[in-house]
Amino acid sequence: MRAIKGVDFKGKTVIVRVDYNVPMESGKIVDDLRIRASVPTIEMLREGGAAKIILISHLGRPEGVTPELSLAPVVKVLDKLVSRVSFIDSVDSEAVREKVSAMKEGEVLLLENLRFYPGEEENSEEFAQGIIDVTGAEVFVQDGFAVVHRAHASTDAMARLLPAYAGLLVEREVEMLSKTISDPERPLVLIIGGSKVEDKSPLIEKFLGIADRILVGGKIAADGFKLDDPKVYVAEDFDTDMEGTKLDIGPVATAKFAEKLMDAKTVIWNGVLGKVEDPAYATASTIMAEVLGEKEDCLTVICGGDTTAFVEKTMEEHPRLKYGLISTGGGAALEFLLGKELPGLKVL
Ligand code: 3PG
Repeated sequence: MRAIKGVDFKGKTVIVRVDYNVPMESGKIVDDLRIRASVPTIEMLREGGAAKIILISHLGRPEGVTPELSLAPVVKVLDKLVSRVSFIDSVDSEAVREKVSAMKEGEVLLLENLRFYPGEEENSEEFAQGIIDVTGAEVFVQDGFAVVHRAHASTDAMARLLPAYAGLLVEREVEMLSKTISDPERPLVLIIGGSKVEDKSPLIEKFLGIADRILVGGKIAADGFKLDDPKVYVAEDFDTDMEGTKLDIGPVATAKFAEKLMDAKTVIWNGVLGKVEDPAYATASTIMAEVLGEKEDCLTVICGGDTTAFVEKTMEEHPRLKYGLISTGGGAALEFLLGKELPGLKVL
């Protein structure tokens, strides 16, 4: 992958693909991990003398212009982190051209949700070229790790039309995730939770050949997932509600998980272990977040949207907890771990 370190951005207009597909409730951003994760690349470009920084992203899966999926609310959050950020509710219009030409050195402009335009998901070169033309972009930086599994105009076509580089976030995630699968320090333990067995089975299967231990909790264990392999431990006791519905793994399984993590040198955790939105059933996941966050000499990788959100929340309550990588990539991280070819990386 071509990385941005060492590239001369002085005086250049740089277009950066970020992933600001962040969870929102009534127009408010409820998890800003992906916004914070984009800061190092923006700062590096500024320090490197980039003249103008244009950010592009999608939000949600709109069909046409959908005001509630506008990226406008992101600006306030980003501006607090890097300052001098503005927004325009368009991507390829003359208004964008005018706005960019009025930008001062080092200013940042966020364009509107790319998926308001069909050209984005169609991976249209014409659409990508239109954005390049009105922004005057000379270089493309891919820093939206969470979207590199999509072959869209902003992940593929644009990277073919301009000199293209991986941003710091993409570089870091690729480096850390690669290490866990190709050169892990052992024992390597995979913790699987969550609810969709169809998503998790391929990961478990793949890691049977890579990991030293696989621990399975969450709804998939509660639903009776079984695998007869000495590497695999599936939770067998559960905390239940009054009706007997299994909503968290129980104390025996939680203790077993902790014991099997004791000597681990690399851990990947994907999927919460219980119904964590209800604090009564977040016990096992909280213990796991604490065990992993306190581990020393161990590379801990947290991935999957629910898991990263939960771990971040736990960190707010317990700032001492530290992890090697809290991945911004939901589907992208999973596809990477499965060894799939990711179009947004391939093109780099
Ligand atoms: C994600 O949240 O996983 C990425 O932003 C990709 O979004 P998508 O699944 O809608 O393509």
